Amino acid sequence: MPTILITFTPPAPALDLLRKSGTVVGPEDWPTHLPRADALLCLLNDRIDRPLLERAPRLRIVANAVVGYDNVDVAACRERGVVVCNTPDVLTEATADLAWALLLATVRRLPQAERSLRAGEFRGWTFDGYLGSDLAGRTLGILGMGRIGRAVARRAAPFGMRVIYHSRTRLSPGEEGALGAESVDWDTLLAASDVLSLHAPLTPETHHVLDRAALRRMRPGSFLINTARGALVDEAALTDALREGPLAGAGLDVFEREPEIHPGLLSLPNVVLLPHIGSATRETRTAMALLAARNIRAVLAGEAPLTPVLG
Ligand code: NAP
Ligand code: GLV
Repeated sequence: MPTILITFTPPAPALDLLRKSGTVVGPEDWPTHLPRADALLCLLNDRIDRPLLERAPRLRIVANAVVGYDNVDVAACRERGVVVCNTPDVLTEATADLAWALLLATVRRLPQAERSLRAGEFRGWTFDGYLGSDLAGRTLGILGMGRIGRAVARRAAPFGMRVIYHSRTRLSPGEEGALGAESVDWDTLLAASDVLSLHAPLTPETHHVLDRAALRRMRPGSFLINTARGALVDEAALTDALREGPLAGAGLDVFEREPEIHPGLLSLPNVVLLPHIGSATRETRTAMALLAARNIRAVLAGEAPLTPVLG
């Protein structure tokens, strides 16, 4: 029986499938099992790099049970013939929902209002209390028009928002028409978005794509929503842009050095902070774990993986 090493305990249906496919070891002291592992089920906070791969000479598959794979050295895996898989599609809708929940919470200042009520500060309706911003007629900018970016764009029409985007690959005219989305260059995305939502993966090209200079070029009074990866944004520069402008607010589900949060962000009232919960619904997490388990079963059986990382 092949050995399947797990760095976390997946939901029961996925664990059952793994147990049918091999001997499951871990998650306690999981690195100690690397020398005998044929398959690895892991998460975004497990760094799968060359030193780790050297300790796992039998490894045939790394099944990252999330869609982002910036934690995996894909080139090093490929050199060793190790297949890398992620979990695309199954988490798209849940993550797009969360992006919109965060967008609305940020623009309408929901956490601030709720904190104020709990603190006993609500003394009846006032004309000028807890004011947020309108969305109808405003422009939603999307960086990275992939699966989640498109799902976020699809949700914009009912809110009356115009959609512009900047992505590595332009959508077909048919896709743009269906989404009502217009492709623009990076400078235009920064200058024209009332709300800028990030959905590109973390790569050497996108690391700090929102650096100090880019943040300065954002529209005065605009909002930044990040449900992609924290390191797309220079958090120190973001803190300054939220304090001094041009940003009116930010909604962040992801951070540069998770679980550490930049102290400047924690002290700002115009930021909504979430603990990386984009795909965190019971149904979606079960689907992610099952897809990862199915990838492991396929590779161990000598079959093609369902969702290999091709990049
Ligand atoms: P995806 O379908 O691969 O979409 C990513 C998009 O970004 C693609 O359209 C890609 O272009 C584009 N892109 C890549 N490099 C770019 C660049 N340098 N400049 C502009 N656009 C670029 O991935 P997805 O499933 O939508 O997921 C996106 C990311 O969301 C993941 O990588 C992950 O980091 C993050 N995520 C976070 C959570 C959470 O819990 N907060 C949950 C799920 C995902 P191409 O079409 O040319 O590839
Ligand atoms: C979560 O952040 C993911 O990449 O799936």
